Amino acid sequence: MMNIADRGTKLRPARETLRPTFAIFVTVGLRTGNFTLPTYMSEESRASFGGKISAILVAAGSAIGLGSIWRFPYMAGEHGGAAFLLVYLLCVFVVGIPVMLAEFAVGRKTHLNAVGAFRSLSKRWKWVGYNGALAALFISGYYYIVAGWSLEYLVSSLFGPLYTSTESFTAQFDAFQASPRQAIYTVIFILLTHMIIIRGVEKGIEKAAKVMMPALFIILIVMAIRVAFMPDAAEGYWFFLKPDFSEAFAPQTIFTAIGQAFFSLSVGMGCMVTYASYFKRDNNLTTTAFSVSLLTLLVAVLAGLVIFPAVFSAGLEPTEGASLIFVTLPEIFKGMPFAALWSAVFFILLTLASLTSTISFHEVLTAYFAEEHKLSRKNATRLTSALSVALCALTLAFTFDINIGSWLHLEDISFFEIFDYTTANILMPLGGLFTCIFAAWYMKPTFLRGEMTNYGELRGRAFPLLRFTLRYITPAAYLHLRMQPRAALTLSALTLLLRSARNDSTKTEPHEGGRPERETFTATIKTCASTTAD
Ligand code: PHE
Repeated sequence: MMNIADRGTKLRPARETLRPTFAIFVTVGLRTGNFTLPTYMSEESRASFGGKISAILVAAGSAIGLGSIWRFPYMAGEHGGAAFLLVYLLCVFVVGIPVMLAEFAVGRKTHLNAVGAFRSLSKRWKWVGYNGALAALFISGYYYIVAGWSLEYLVSSLFGPLYTSTESFTAQFDAFQASPRQAIYTVIFILLTHMIIIRGVEKGIEKAAKVMMPALFIILIVMAIRVAFMPDAAEGYWFFLKPDFSEAFAPQTIFTAIGQAFFSLSVGMGCMVTYASYFKRDNNLTTTAFSVSLLTLLVAVLAGLVIFPAVFSAGLEPTEGASLIFVTLPEIFKGMPFAALWSAVFFILLTLASLTSTISFHEVLTAYFAEEHKLSRKNATRLTSALSVALCALTLAFTFDINIGSWLHLEDISFFEIFDYTTANILMPLGGLFTCIFAAWYMKPTFLRGEMTNYGELRGRAFPLLRFTLRYITPAAYLHLRMQPRAALTLSALTLLLRSARNDSTKTEPHEGGRPERETFTATIKTCASTTAD
């Protein structure tokens, strides 16, 4: 029979997983002790986040952003509501959490920026870090613009003309996009991000997340309660929470949900590598990854619980698309008492959520320039902000009919689309896929196990499951995104066959960069690629 002490230790992992998630609402800024272990860069010489809760808040700050509040509801609206929610949930567990854990391991092991982290573990893999830095650069080219919209809507709700103008919300949205105000708000947003980043890791990023994240949850919960009392709200809940399985397994739903999972969890861009490089040695990476993902899920669900009842209550269509928030929501607020106030509250929420995300990809580049090119942190921040301004200028110039690109024959191509497409559909999936191959196939199992267990301090019971998922399930799910399902199935079958042919895979790994496993995987990919080509 299990004695009480044993039972205590058996229950501990579950308690540890859940406790930080809820503790966020109760206490912010808990400090924990620190102990030293051999690292690639000494902890004393580098900034670090204060404690476990801080680590969760900053990583959740990166993850929770426009992706959960703006993109998720309209994706769900277009792909069957609850059906999409179900598939998204599955993708978060199968793709998002494992890759996030792998990124945490790479970052915390090395205490370096994304490029430096991969380079220090293996010179040949440093390109995964560069891929992340490039993705961070590209996302800067459009994310600040959408974030600027939320700022404009916040100001316009409070001081007009959003609710004082006689023009329709669609006309106002179009007019805003065609006016120079859009560029001004974009630059203001870059400056806000710049001001936080320049203050450093602890005083800037950590402090901002500690204030903004709890505020964001409080605002969302207040909004969800308010919306529940609107007429016909039940129809919205029905749409969002009743699963339709025929829609759930449609290829397009799966495709979109995987994309949404890695975008909303900020994986595949080196963000989590960079943030984890500021984690302390005693942070429990598994707990952190689960807490961050659960908080992101919670925000996405709460955003759905605000938006869908409101949309149905106003008799509008949930499939409105990208303008769901900027056109449909003002329409709803307009019918409510204190319209401008509720609207301002919502757009404050969106602005705060965007800001905690923009600081995370800004930090990927700032840390890269500071550490790899030996710039001072101030200059690295300035360079990143200047690049962001330049890219956004390019995007605004090409997107909105200023036709500078005619001599390049680029009149029909918007940089907004180029940046969005290459980031979400090429660079992030590539970064995610290769981070998982790197951590689970190239590196020795002791690498992941060590980081997950804090080198023997924690039990790491989830390690076998994580490694299995990272080796087989996550790559198969990723490849499903890029290839025909037939090829993804072939890959899964082949890897399983190879695994059983090699009776003990761990014996074949002589050193940290286990070559035999890598070659087997390369062969598998080649076979798979030729299957698709046929
Ligand atoms: N996860 C963020 C969002 O949902 C976007 C993001 C992606 C931020 C990648 C950083 C890195 O809005």
